[in-house]
Amino acid sequence: MEILHVAAECYPYAKAGGLGDVVGALPKYQNQLGHIAKVVLPMYRTKFLAENKWEVVHKGNVQLGSWSTDYTVIKEATNKLGFDFYALDINGLLDREKIYGYDDDAQRFLAFQVAVVDWINKWNDKPNVIHVHDYHAGLVPFIMQNCYPYKALAGIKSVLTIHNAQYQGWMDWEMVKHFPAWDAFKWGSLDWNDMINPLAAAIKCAWRVNTVSPSYMDEIKENANGLEQLFEYEKGKCSGIINGIDNVIWDPATDNYLDHHYNVKTVATGKQQNKLQLCTEFGLDVKKPLMVFIGRLVGEKAADILPEAIAESIYQFQGNVNFLILGSGEPEVESKLAAMNSKYAGYYNSKIAYNEALSHKMYAGADFLLMPSRVEPCGLNQLYALRYGTIPLVRKTGGLKDTVPDMGEGGYGFSFLNATVNDLVHTIGRAIGLFYDQPKHFTMIRKQIMSLNFSWESSAQKYIDLYNS
Ligand code: GLC
Repeated sequence: MEILHVAAECYPYAKAGGLGDVVGALPKYQNQLGHIAKVVLPMYRTKFLAENKWEVVHKGNVQLGSWSTDYTVIKEATNKLGFDFYALDINGLLDREKIYGYDDDAQRFLAFQVAVVDWINKWNDKPNVIHVHDYHAGLVPFIMQNCYPYKALAGIKSVLTIHNAQYQGWMDWEMVKHFPAWDAFKWGSLDWNDMINPLAAAIKCAWRVNTVSPSYMDEIKENANGLEQLFEYEKGKCSGIINGIDNVIWDPATDNYLDHHYNVKTVATGKQQNKLQLCTEFGLDVKKPLMVFIGRLVGEKAADILPEAIAESIYQFQGNVNFLILGSGEPEVESKLAAMNSKYAGYYNSKIAYNEALSHKMYAGADFLLMPSRVEPCGLNQLYALRYGTIPLVRKTGGLKDTVPDMGEGGYGFSFLNATVNDLVHTIGRAIGLFYDQPKHFTMIRKQIMSLNFSWESSAQKYIDLYNS
């Protein structure tokens, strides 16, 4: 089967979050299963673009309403990613440094999607499945089915994977003037509450829809930022498939970012060496349990409860615990967390940044990972933590609920119900107890979690089954 993935992120070309990890790994595993999976992204001016060889594979032109624009598709020439990787450039619109965050993002992603469809229309042998990820690629199924220049593509099967239903790409109806000529009787496929809603359009038009965990699929029928009824209505074609992780990139025995490698047999000394390195760099005490948070500092991840929960834990547990935070996001949370560096020096430190290398060092050196997320469609960080022998503390939601059963119920992590300071501090207390009072059990759990297998193999096959259905 031939599959074309359309997305906004793909590691290592461009990554802002878990979406990039998934789009960078799933196609590789699909190829290993004997299929041909390819990926196309907008061309951003990233480090990966500059450092690799590219060949031009297609040049075309699209009409976006009254505006006509040329586009170019380039392909990474050395198959470095384990699949064919294409970047689509539209001069002036896409060749920028950041992935998101420009005032004209709506135009940028619309133009990208139209150009992708135009390009597919020129392929001699069309792909069997177009797999679109999140709202940035959500209009593709609609464009293939309802825009006159591309009607020949209407029969190609499409799949939408929802990594996050909170963001939907809402646009004013005024934007419709930039669409290629389309069948106006189909306006209902674009509309949700008087706006063009690309995520809703994808849910309506794609042949199959999935979220990145089964629990998240259940949850969004009740809480999907306004789309609840649509999920209820379309439930017949919706399912949940848990993400995997790239076991080759994420392996403490070979990880390029680590100075001290380890495996399940050497986990105790290996983690201790990594921990010592981190504690030395960040002024923390290697004898105390080290808890880390890695991620976007936003409400969805409940990063706003961290300052109080950390301060309260240091106080309640008499300083017998250390914390290290890595992330960036909402300015208010960032400044609160940064201000605590001096106040709680010796017990706490933070780095307000996105830093792939440091994140790997933290998974390796930490004892526990905090994930109090309010919303977590799958979550990959808990899976990375498990692979690195770091015990996750998670809120029971979405993919966290599906992957981290609590120790009290025969599982291997700690989980709690509410994204509140109280629940988090209480759970931190349980973890501290395990660390000091049950060292043998602690070591055993570490070995157990390192032996779990959350690799993509089984989920990659589930996607193939979904395409076949
Ligand atoms: C989004 C979700 C996260 C998920 C990731 C990859 O970032 O917030 O939970 O793991 O996408 O699917």
